[in-house]
Amino acid sequence: MWDAGVLVKEIQGMRDDGHLSDALLRKAVRTIASSDERYDWVGVYLVGEGEELWLHNYIGEPTMHAKIPFGKGVCGRAAAMRRNFNIKDVSKEENYLACSPDTKSEIVILIRAGDQVFGEIDIDSDQQAAFDEDDEIALISVADKLAEQLAAERR
Ligand code: SME
Repeated sequence: MWDAGVLVKEIQGMRDDGHLSDALLRKAVRTIASSDERYDWVGVYLVGEGEELWLHNYIGEPTMHAKIPFGKGVCGRAAAMRRNFNIKDVSKEENYLACSPDTKSEIVILIRAGDQVFGEIDIDSDQQAAFDEDDEIALISVADKLAEQLAAERR
């Protein structure tokens, strides 16, 4: 399991040096994508205008889902319901937006400060049931650090 604590410290260091959320979000996606071979597609969606998610940056194959309405797919449901998802087998999901035919499981972790949802980290894996509680804990710690900066910029 990769060490999310190192990434959280690096992101805080970037904040201390004056970097804004754009740089932090790109750093997080790059680092997470290279941290674990189970992570085949890693991206961040941000809440755009209205109830819609807009793809901010990603590593992996291009996706047709650059904009996702709240409620649509796993990502849209996470934003609408304000909760994380760990989908062990995407073929069993009725409300699902496929990015790649190779994807077997997916995890979505909200970037949030309390009730305010700024966006989410979305990871697809070609392995079934690729994500466990350790992934969730690691990704939540990174997402919470990213949310600190997004909250600070919107004050
Ligand atoms: N599978 C997601 C869509 C985003 S792609 O995985 C990049 C969903 O169902 O919302």
